[in-house]
Amino acid sequence: MLAMNKSKIVLGAFGLLASVAMFSACKDNKSTGLEYARNMYDPIAYNQDQPNKNFANGATSQTPPPNTTPVDFVRYDYPNTKEGYEASAALVNPLALTEKNLLEGKHFYTVFCSPCHGEKGDGQGHIVKLDKGISGVPAYHGADAISSRGGLMKDMPAGKIYHTIMYGLNAMGSHASQLSPTERWKVVMYVQQLQKIQ
Ligand code: HEC
Repeated sequence: MLAMNKSKIVLGAFGLLASVAMFSACKDNKSTGLEYARNMYDPIAYNQDQPNKNFANGATSQTPPPNTTPVDFVRYDYPNTKEGYEASAALVNPLALTEKNLLEGKHFYTVFCSPCHGEKGDGQGHIVKLDKGISGVPAYHGADAISSRGGLMKDMPAGKIYHTIMYGLNAMGSHASQLSPTERWKVVMYVQQLQKIQ
């Protein structure tokens, strides 16, 4: 008997509390009413866009100090200039020429490059063949395929191909955000196979 009364009292008290909490929200319609565990709404940690008086410039989000490199970020120190392009010729593909790397390179090439450069690297991708398609896409092979930056396409060294993927060139956009450094080198490896086509 007593046990039942106790639970009724608890239930009643809870009901009362719940209705106070609920109706306290009715005073004005902008009020959120009584809030339980307010600190769960206001985390102790700062949000990135929040003002922050712990830093001299008053911002939470701080610019990293100069010359810091994020973990796993691969630096590319050749600028998008004529000198940078020429200097990139010294770069060597760090990946081993294996069937697996080539196959993966072919996959990325098919996705990102073949629409313009063509599956066989002849500069005749389907975008080029369109009525008002893109023009001036060089083939990678053949005695008459020349780079607008000088030299035959078939002789272009790996580093310059990598450099072109990084920055793009005129109508060709940069592919640095689509391909990781390793994926870029796999594509370079595959392009170098296409350069050998007679
Ligand atoms: C939107 C079409 C398009 C796509 C996609 C494209 N290219 Fe190009 N690419 C071009 C054009 C156009 C040129 C010639 C630019 C010039 O010489 O003005 C070019 C030039 C090049 C060159 C020669 C650079 C030089 O120094 O002469 C290389 C190498 C190259 N592309 C590789 C690639 C690779 C690898 C991919 C894929 C990751 C790719 N391209 C994707 C259109 C494209």
